[in-house]
Amino acid sequence: MSAYKLLNSQLRLTLADETDALANACNFIGQLYNGIDDINWAGLYILREQELLLGPFQGLPAVTRIALGTGVCGAAAKQRETLLVEDVHAFPGHIACDAASRSEIVVPLIKDGKLLGVLDIDSPVLARFSGEDRDGIEMMCRTYLETISGSWL
Ligand code: SME
Repeated sequence: MSAYKLLNSQLRLTLADETDALANACNFIGQLYNGIDDINWAGLYILREQELLLGPFQGLPAVTRIALGTGVCGAAAKQRETLLVEDVHAFPGHIACDAASRSEIVVPLIKDGKLLGVLDIDSPVLARFSGEDRDGIEMMCRTYLETISGSWL
C-alpha cells in the first residue's frame, strides 16, 4: 500500500489547483500509467446516455463504445463494483483492445451516488493486480473524484 500512498500524495498535489473533470482525468491517467509497473493501458470510459464512451487514456487505441453489462468495463459499471480479472481470456465477453493484455482491473467511478464511468487498467502480466492494488487504485479514484466539480460535460 505504501507505493500507492506515495502515488496518491503525488496525485493530490497534481490535481490540487484544478477542479475541471476532464483536465484532472487526463492528469489522473498520466499519473497512473507512469506510476504503476507492468501495465499497458490505463484510461476512463465515461457514462453517456447509458453507454460507456472512451475517455482520456494512455496505451494503444481502444474500442470507443461499450454497452452496460458488456465486457469487463460494462460488467463493473452495471454491478457498480470493482472487478479484478486475473486472466482476461477466461472472462466471458472480454473485449480485447491490445492482444498483449492478460489481466485487468476495472473500478466504477461513483460520485454522490451517481455512476460517472469506470477506470480501466490492463496488464500484459497474468494476475497482475492484487487486493493491495485494488485498494490503492480505489483510493486514487476517490482522490480524483473528490477534486472534480461536476462531470465531464
Ligand atoms: N477489456 C475491456 C475493454 C477496454 S480495453 O481493455 C481498453 C473490457 O472487456 O471491457
